[in-house]
Amino acid sequence: MFLTNQWYCVALSSEVTDKPFRRIVCNEPLLLYRNTESKVVTLEDRCSHRQAPLSTGEVIGNNIQCKYHGFVFDNGGRCIHIPHQNSIPERAHISSYPVQEKWGFVWVWKGVNAEANINQIPDLHWTEKKGRSPVYIYFHVKANHQLVADNLLDISHADYLHSDTLGSKSGVMNGPQPDRVEFRTWDEGNKVHSFRKLTNVEVASFPKKWGGFKKNVDRTNIQMWEAPNTVHVHLEFENTENKILINHDHIMTPETETTTHYFMDFTRDFGISGTEYPTDADVYQEQYSVISGDDLPMVESQQENIHLYNGVVDVPVKADKLISAVHRRLADMYTKQGVSIPSYVLVQR
Ligand code: FES
Ligand SMILES: [Fe+2]
Repeated sequence: MFLTNQWYCVALSSEVTDKPFRRIVCNEPLLLYRNTESKVVTLEDRCSHRQAPLSTGEVIGNNIQCKYHGFVFDNGGRCIHIPHQNSIPERAHISSYPVQEKWGFVWVWKGVNAEANINQIPDLHWTEKKGRSPVYIYFHVKANHQLVADNLLDISHADYLHSDTLGSKSGVMNGPQPDRVEFRTWDEGNKVHSFRKLTNVEVASFPKKWGGFKKNVDRTNIQMWEAPNTVHVHLEFENTENKILINHDHIMTPETETTTHYFMDFTRDFGISGTEYPTDADVYQEQYSVISGDDLPMVESQQENIHLYNGVVDVPVKADKLISAVHRRLADMYTKQGVSIPSYVLVQR
């Protein structure tokens, strides 16, 4: 069971072309393509005749023709042509979905169509801000969407899982420690926030290279979670040598209960000339290799363990405060929707 009346991110803008494209979202196959005005069309990915996936068909002008026996559907899902037949039964029409393209992503409303409110799409305005450059990445993950989100809500993992690349050198027992670790979380309306600052810490190789840092830095992470499952991260590295700023946003969309579409932008204020390091290609390569090399194998193996050690319960610690706060919020949302709270939402009151 998934949250309804939500905008789900279903694709990077760059993934949707005038060729039909299938993506399963919340257990439901969707068909996406661009019409002649370059607007994204989103329909059920099934032909009403005998359930063939329309994504195997052909876009003709603004419409899509089924590859099996040639039914044609318009942008609203209305069947407008049945070969060798004049009458079109009402039941031949299929569903369309409210869809919006914003901030480099495609968002589909899952719920009551008339209640779709574009103001509910997460605000990622920094992706279009002057002096910033966004890099977009998509990952398919063999793990539940909440496990993927929890990995982002718990940034303390960076000092261990990414100790040589993205983290800080504060993860070794009896090793050097930052002067200070501050961490707090708070709720604001439907959003959950956290602030974490490590003062005077040695950072790993990537931030060192990005900012040309020779000395220790102050590392600040300001995070915000919003439904259904977007994690915004505002990240700053600062010392007397330099200050650099990154907004990276992580959007987790359930494909099924145990698989996830993970969309990301990494929007930085350095290396944006296109020629100096890090170029967009450098950023893509670094982020792709860290996430697919470190994070995804970890969450996929957690998923396997949770399945095999059926019924085990986590032991939350101080660093998990944001996870706990978000899970409490999710539990309330599922309850309000009148459905039982899924097992991957662990309510720690
Ligand atoms: S299944 Fe599509 S036309 Fe027959
Ligand atoms: Fe990570």
